[in-house]
Order: sequence, then structure tokens, then C-alpha cells
Amino acid sequence: PLVTYIEFDGTPHRVEAAPDRTLMQLAIDHGVPGILGDCGGSCSCATCHGYIDAEWGPKLPAISETEAFMLEGVPEPRPTSRLCCQIRMTAALDGIVVHLPAEQV
Ligand code: FES
Repeated sequence: PLVTYIEFDGTPHRVEAAPDRTLMQLAIDHGVPGILGDCGGSCSCATCHGYIDAEWGPKLPAISETEAFMLEGVPEPRPTSRLCCQIRMTAALDGIVVHLPAEQV
């Protein structure tokens, strides 16, 4: 499955998702600027913030209480904000687009 990350300046990065990786891990694996993932994916840093178009909402895992709490602290939260470490790629998410914020925490 393919993932497209779009940097804040509009630069796109298309990557082929290896099995069982999260959107945060895939960005790091491929050197996509704009995602840090400081906590290694334990939902405790919020440096993997991204905006995921609403059309994908129904296919995404629900936002846990912890993720919701962490999202309250990101710069410029939007209704489409998610933490990329909490979304594991599946075939159903093929083609997903992740817009990256101007800055992480
Ligand atoms: Fe730290 Fe996602 S990598 S919250």
C-alpha cells in the first residue's frame, strides 16, 4: 500500500508501506522531514502529528483517550489531526495522504 506525505511547503513524498509499520515509522524509515517520533511510538510526545483528510476517517482506528489528550497539546490542532504512531498501515489505507504541520511540538 502507498502512503503520500505532504510537507507543509507542499513537497510530496510517496512511500510503499512495509507490512506492520505505522505512519510514523514509515516516515522515519524513508527520511520524510516533518515527523520526529521522539517517543518511539508510545503516544507520549506528539511529535508525529499529521492531518489526515476526513475521507479516511472511517477507515482509521479510533482515537484513544491518550491520543486525544496528546493532540490537545499540538500546535495548530484541526479536526483531522492524528498522531501517526497510532495508525498502522493496512491494505484498506492504500493511497492515504498525510499532511504534515508547519512544526511539531
Ligand atoms: Fe511520540 Fe507518536 S511518536 S506520540
